[in-house]
Amino acid sequence: MIALAAPRPRRFGHLLKLRRSTRNFTTTEIQLERIADALWHAAGETQDGRRVSASARATYPVNLTLVAGSVADLPIGTYRYEPREHALEIVAAGDTRQDVAEMTLDAGSWLGDCPALFIASANTTRAPSALADQPAEHSRHFAWMEVGFLVQNISIWAAETGLGAVVIAGFDDSKARSVSERLLPVENELLAVIAIGERAR
Ligand SMILES: Cc1cc2nc3c(=O)[nH]c(=O)nc-3n(C[C@H](O)[C@H](O)[C@H](O)COP(=O)(O)O)c2cc1C
Repeated sequence: MIALAAPRPRRFGHLLKLRRSTRNFTTTEIQLERIADALWHAAGETQDGRRVSASARATYPVNLTLVAGSVADLPIGTYRYEPREHALEIVAAGDTRQDVAEMTLDAGSWLGDCPALFIASANTTRAPSALADQPAEHSRHFAWMEVGFLVQNISIWAAETGLGAVVIAGFDDSKARSVSERLLPVENELLAVIAIGERAR
């Protein structure tokens, strides 16, 4: 066995040490500015028209839907994040956090009180034309890979800002289908939910 030198944490290493899943949130309203910041760190566009994380042939299959329950200056509702405009498009008015909570296998008791939830999804049935030369299932694999990058970006962002975040990916399939049909872009498969809020002390 070859012993390796201990990592020398710089700023990024320090944030990795701070990153922890939070399941204990306060119900404190979260500022829209912070939600905007989290969305950009997850899926934002950069100056060259690409995005903050890698994507197979720059196809960017992962969509983000914000379920806002307690966000200052944002009416309660569900919104689609549009990376190009760095803007939100309303999908539906009303509080759907409890519906999202109830489709999870183990977060039903607390997720519905979290101020903001991001739902990551992708159209995993139709391969984008840029991937037409590859076996059909590859585009689905890429979407699953890419949602991991996005979640890690949010997790590190949360560590940096001191906010709490956790990724949830255990769902009841039939409940998830019903929520997906109502809240997600057409033909999108639910990949993950990311809860964001102030950590309870
Ligand atoms: C793919 C994936 C699925 C997860 N699903 C859930 C989940 O359904 N419910 C939950 O409470 N936590 C979920 N988590 C969070 C893990 O439980 C958590 O990352 C793990 O306990 C390690 O703790 P840490 O993130 O604080 O290091 C998931 C994490 C990953 C990476």
